[in-house]
Amino acid sequence: MPGVRGPSDYSQEPPRHPCLKINAKEPFNAEPPRSALVSSYVTPVDLFYKRNHGPIPIVDDIERYCVSISGLVENPKELFMKDIRKWAILMFKLACITKVLEQVMYIVIICNRMLPKYNVTATLQCAGNRRTAMSNTRKVKGVGWDVSAIGNAVWGGAKLADVLELVGISKLTSSTQSGGKHVEFVSIDKCKEENGGPYKASIPLSQATNPDADVLLAYEMNGETLNRDHGYPLRVIVPGVIGARSVKWLDSISVITEECQGFFMQKDYKMFPPSVDWDNINWSTRRAQMDFPVQSVICSLEDVTAIKPGKIKVSGYAASGGGRGIERVDLSVDGGKTWMEASRYQKTGIPYITDDISSDKWAWVLFEATIDVTHSTEIVAKAVDIAANVQPERVEDIWNLRGILNTSWHRVQVRVGHSNM
Ligand code: MTE
Repeated sequence: MPGVRGPSDYSQEPPRHPCLKINAKEPFNAEPPRSALVSSYVTPVDLFYKRNHGPIPIVDDIERYCVSISGLVENPKELFMKDIRKWAILMFKLACITKVLEQVMYIVIICNRMLPKYNVTATLQCAGNRRTAMSNTRKVKGVGWDVSAIGNAVWGGAKLADVLELVGISKLTSSTQSGGKHVEFVSIDKCKEENGGPYKASIPLSQATNPDADVLLAYEMNGETLNRDHGYPLRVIVPGVIGARSVKWLDSISVITEECQGFFMQKDYKMFPPSVDWDNINWSTRRAQMDFPVQSVICSLEDVTAIKPGKIKVSGYAASGGGRGIERVDLSVDGGKTWMEASRYQKTGIPYITDDISSDKWAWVLFEATIDVTHSTEIVAKAVDIAANVQPERVEDIWNLRGILNTSWHRVQVRVGHSNM
């Protein structure tokens, strides 16, 4: 690609926050302390988990950086950053002030084929979040993660549905006339799993062309230009779906007939039953994982925390994939015999109402409750989403050889002592 220098080694990695817990150095994989996740609804960029399968590429000539859109499309195109991130962002915002101006701007945008900017608050979660705990019951293969391979950010960018319109694919299309049914994203970075080829993934065309699915080509994270760790200059954000499909350092987009045949779609990030192990696995029997299931985690306490007897605040996050809101978060101090409901919120001071227009549908909710703890015990959290999906009790029941989607009840131990604490 013109203007792109993708290092094939780890000699030029960006600086990172000293608080991050490094789970693997090369490729760089790190997560923040769990307490950082409940410090704010929007996760600061430097404390956002970083999940990579290869060295971080450098794009050093942004003027010449472009993304090609090709495959089964009428008008293949090359989009430069200036086409994607354009001056009309500001104009578009102004235009929304009055209906008349909005109409005018709509015409301007259509005539100039410019792309409006959207901000989408969405939680990104790696399918491997909580893998270490799964591996503790029976060994799994993969980078170990505690509970912080997740974060919530405000992503700014163009909607993929608008971009695909530029190459002749209408909104809400599930198949093009030439048989295109999937949209493949190919990256700049190179991974050993792809035999030195680029990281890639795909999503169905129906999702890509649905404006309500909010799939973005993002160039901003929390109002700042995307940084190198998170995909500079351009990445895909697929809200409600495991992080693996949100391809960073985008190089090209292709409309194709079959799902992407890349390693991470076909030979990884698939959910197998506990009976399947490396000696009897048949990857083709399972679908590529897309939506993530309902999840909740206590972040105010470590796996084992020493406390004094009395009231403690328990807080954490809960999220579900596919835009399903969180209906309830339950906490128990007696191993799940009895439960109390935690309060949920997104923005501070505003109660969270599931499915309400004021709620961020793709974002996590934070929860909190005050619990009276008189003796050493285990505190358990489980969430329920709006489809009444609930987290499974036992990690053993969802064990899978790659250690993905550990959404079992989250358990922490509190050791109550009476002196010197
Ligand atoms: N995109 C590229 N090009 N290379 C990668 O290694 N990792 C994926 C996804 N996109 C990856 C990628 C995975 S597995 C996850 S969970 C998210 O990026 C992590 O995004 P983050 O590092 O911005 O948190």
